Amino acid sequence: MQVKEVMALIEKNAQTADKEFKRVFHGRGGLYEGWRHLTVDSINNIISLALYFQEESEAELLKSVENFVNESQKYSTFVVQRRYIKGAPSEVLVGNVAKDLFVIENGMKLKLNLLSNKNNYYFPDMKNGRAFVREVAKDKHVLNLFSYTCAFSVAAKFGGAKSVVNIDMSKGALKVGMANHSINKLDPKGVSFLPYNILKSFSSIKKKGPYDLIIIDPPSFQRGSFEATKDYEKIIKKLPQIASDNCILLACLNSPELDSHFLIDMIQKWAPSFVFQQRIKNVPEFASLNEDKSLKNLIFQRVCV
Ligand SMILES: C[S@@+](CC[C@H](N)C(=O)[O-])C[C@H]1O[C@@H](n2cnc3c(N)ncnc32)[C@H](O)[C@@H]1O
Repeated sequence: MQVKEVMALIEKNAQTADKEFKRVFHGRGGLYEGWRHLTVDSINNIISLALYFQEESEAELLKSVENFVNESQKYSTFVVQRRYIKGAPSEVLVGNVAKDLFVIENGMKLKLNLLSNKNNYYFPDMKNGRAFVREVAKDKHVLNLFSYTCAFSVAAKFGGAKSVVNIDMSKGALKVGMANHSINKLDPKGVSFLPYNILKSFSSIKKKGPYDLIIIDPPSFQRGSFEATKDYEKIIKKLPQIASDNCILLACLNSPELDSHFLIDMIQKWAPSFVFQQRIKNVPEFASLNEDKSLKNLIFQRVCV
């Protein structure tokens, strides 16, 4: 595909973008030959572009997007992040970026950091997971494991959750999580933010249970902290002790090497009272050549007889 064709797609998709976050080009999914290195997002008045490796077409592409932004009524800022450079630096090519930036997703505000590094606080591909949590959270006691910046917790509170226990070993991420609650004017009562290593804190986690809705959204591999292949089952084995009788489980996996059956079989083996219900469909804008390599969000319902 030529730069011209990519631009045509970006401009077409941007036409229907509004104040909410929207991915307008997702090369990562492998559906556009030669463009796996590119993603483009529409964030209110910002076009944010990420490059995962360097290609000859980079200068032409950036000039074309810059012209598009300069001529557009909707956009006033253009940011590019070069993820192929150490530290993944961002450069503002048009306009400027507010320090206290947030995205809007289904009316929720979620903090976004476009300028510092790879951890930009927000995982857009999890949108449908959050919508599910919001849909089922009413009156529930929720456990949000690997909460990062607590976007699931915000969704649960929007959905009327009674209480949420957020756990992540990163104090910095939890601090952003607290801000995510306050910018949405959510009552902090009943929401906790615990900086624990999950694999070493089961007794504390159990004390605060039993939970009616459990979310497990770990990294697939984080050196020294979590490796899905050997650590996921340590959490699954504890589920029966921390879950209420009718508990709903959302188990997530974002590893291209492990498919849905890795989780379904593990849960069948170690927590058989959790019955697999369905895989949540991924956001269409993030469509991928091979769906089983992309994000897997699996719903289980506990059935106690
Ligand atoms: C993929 S992110 C989670 C995304 C998050 N659920 C969301 O909705 O945005 C992974 C998180 O797991 C945390 N983490 C990794 N290993 C951990 C461990 N053993 N205990 C607690 N947190 C851990 C990291 O600090 C990071 O914030």
